[in-house]
Amino acid sequence: MIRKRGSLILCGTFLFITWNAILVLLLWGRPPPGQPGEPGRGQGEVGERPTNDVVGDVLRMADTFEAELERQKQILLQIQNHQSLWETPNKDEPKVVVPPRQPVIPILVIACNRVTVRRCLDKLLQHRPSAELHPIIVSQDCGHAETAEVIRSYGSKVTHLKQPDLSDIAVQPQHKKFQGYYKISRHYRWALNQVFKTLSHSSVVIVEDDLEVAPDFFEYFRASLPLLKSDPSLWCVSAWNDNGRDGYVDPGKANLLYRTDFFPGLGWMLLKEVWEELEPKWPASFWDDWMRHPDQRRNRACIRPEISRTLTFGRQGVSLGQFYDKYLRYIKLNTEFVPFTKLDLSYLKEETYRNVFEKEVYSAPVVTYEDVKQGKLKGPGPFRLQYSSKDSFKVMAKNLGIMEDLKSGVPRAGYRGVVSFISRGHRIYLAPPPGWTKYDPTWS
Ligand code: UD1
Ligand code: MN
Repeated sequence: MIRKRGSLILCGTFLFITWNAILVLLLWGRPPPGQPGEPGRGQGEVGERPTNDVVGDVLRMADTFEAELERQKQILLQIQNHQSLWETPNKDEPKVVVPPRQPVIPILVIACNRVTVRRCLDKLLQHRPSAELHPIIVSQDCGHAETAEVIRSYGSKVTHLKQPDLSDIAVQPQHKKFQGYYKISRHYRWALNQVFKTLSHSSVVIVEDDLEVAPDFFEYFRASLPLLKSDPSLWCVSAWNDNGRDGYVDPGKANLLYRTDFFPGLGWMLLKEVWEELEPKWPASFWDDWMRHPDQRRNRACIRPEISRTLTFGRQGVSLGQFYDKYLRYIKLNTEFVPFTKLDLSYLKEETYRNVFEKEVYSAPVVTYEDVKQGKLKGPGPFRLQYSSKDSFKVMAKNLGIMEDLKSGVPRAGYRGVVSFISRGHRIYLAPPPGWTKYDPTWS
């Protein structure tokens, strides 16, 4: 950038001097302007010489120069104003002039009483490509002073909002132990209203305070925003793969994205229009499972990556740590930066995706659970492993190490009933029989 600017200045100076030299020569060989009875400027007869009034000549010349200089100053100022149009982003220099048409995607961090929010914020700030394009809004519930102090220490790098209603929520006696889930729900509603209504943003990426983001986290959301906006069969983009444990994903396919019918959460992008649809009926608790209900999802899918762009370090949380120890802590975080904004993501459009995916899955040879488990697969794959009931899905999922739970009949990371994962180096599609049409919400 510095070199480029230097050569620009040099070039400009050269042009400036040349222009002035030509001007001097021209003026010198011309009668003084504005004499009564004379033809218009530049039409003076050839051969006329300056008069003997040298001082007058010099003064007139100075006036002309002054006017000319002023004109050139205006031109230079205009050039400076349009500089951003030809300056391109440069890796070595993080501060770039940003063309105004790029969308702003704020990051909403949901915080409460964990000072470890620092880890979340540090990673966000470390990987953020631009402060203007990705303002960080930390919304804090719980009124925890120590956590507030940590957030405050980031100064103007983040916006610190405080959820004002810290009262206990009246719940049925048998839900007393779920008080936390009620508070989370209340906080989400308030915070998302701040983002969309008070601050008038048109999209947001929601990050909980126990998430760490990958280097291409922002790149991923920037690239997928146009897809989310243009495709009404999508309602979110998530950074999370529920089956993204090491050994269950293809490390050579960091650029691979999927559609999923399961709402993954855990670092996800939402549009204002969808929020306006959900907000009036937002639930008192368990907001994420509520999202997974057919009444809310309405057959819409989310985009999710092969390799997660978030990692959760929140062992101590509102839910018990067991789930964390068994699955969550093993989810692999992507490390290689994928330039998603420069990739063609049109393969994710609904019809294209569905056709290609179904062909890929249902043309794969069927194998038995034993073959997979014992590593007896012949050939490169992919392979199809069929399930025909809730129980056969659960048994196979559990024994092969993928998530066995279903929400409203949808398996985690599933698309049209199919769960894609790697087992002993082979791509496996755990799939319902051909001709699948819909989920059975009684499967849970
Ligand atoms: C789980 C989900 C989480 C979801 C929550 C609600 C996982 C790994 N996590 O929460 O995505 O939002 O269920 O169904 O699946 N918080 C408040 N106020 C509170 C307590 C917590 O705002 O009173 C915030 C926390 O700062 C955090 C979020 O809510 O950002 C989730 O809390 P956490 O303690 O991490 O609960 P999980 O069991 O992970
Ligand atoms: Mn958590």
